[in-house]
Amino acid sequence: GRFDVDALAECDSTSSELLRRAERGAPSGSVIVADRQLAGRGRRGRSWLSSADGCLMFSVLWRSQRGLAGLGGLSLAVGVALVRALERLGASGVRLKWPNDVLLATPAGDAKLAGILIELAGGRREAQVCIGIGLNLQTPAGEFAQPVAGLAQALPALPERHDLLATILVALLGVLDDFAECGFAAVKDEWQARHAWQDRAVRLIEDGCAERSGICRGVADDGALLLETATGCERILAGDVSLRVN
Ligand code: ATP
Ligand code: BTN
Repeated sequence: GRFDVDALAECDSTSSELLRRAERGAPSGSVIVADRQLAGRGRRGRSWLSSADGCLMFSVLWRSQRGLAGLGGLSLAVGVALVRALERLGASGVRLKWPNDVLLATPAGDAKLAGILIELAGGRREAQVCIGIGLNLQTPAGEFAQPVAGLAQALPALPERHDLLATILVALLGVLDDFAECGFAAVKDEWQARHAWQDRAVRLIEDGCAERSGICRGVADDGALLLETATGCERILAGDVSLRVN
């Protein structure tokens, strides 16, 4: 596999732009990186906020040979690739939060360093996914529901943007190859080893549903969260759910 990177000064969202290109037949391996996003997105229409130069934002188009059924756990696998890349650059304290966040352990507690957004692309053809990654370089300013962090907090000096992107893409290539072969199971142990909230009491927030509480017992081979509740161990699939520590 190889990546073909297109660098833009500005766009609405690298994921929106890449999804449009996928509709027009862009191949697997297409990457868009932008200095600025005017309408960065998280899940369910939530926004991803970034100041110019404060965040590395890019999206990768990838054709899954596993079909759509095997895609559970892809956002977790991408998190493992980010951990590998950031650790290679010398960062420590990088942790993973199910299903799509990368956290940094700071003296003040865990703070969100990066977010991963996986969307289906090119629906009419073979299964393609758009993998969108926003990695804070500087701690973003503003009001956030959760604490936020920047990579500058974890490294004595920030790498050049293109070196950072290249390091992440190399790590991503390795993880996606493993994922294509064995699914999330290929990197499950690595994910578990960096699990931010292992054995912690959490609340599960589902849209339009009552909250459920339980203890995070890790993840299954398909990427489902194993939540120990009063009534037993439940497998939670990464739909429209968010987790919070109690
Ligand atoms: P959460 O991360 O809150 O559990 P989520 O994984 O479902 O929820 P999304 O639904 O994708 O997250 O929404 C994006 C979240 O990221 C929002 O909660 C938003 O406040 C937060 N956010 C937006 N921009 C940044 C940023 N630059 N750094 C860290 N967090 C951000
Ligand atoms: C999350 O926090 O849950 C996901 C955030 C994903 C943000 C990235 S920034 C690059 C790409 N383009 C977008 O509009 N979103 C993703």
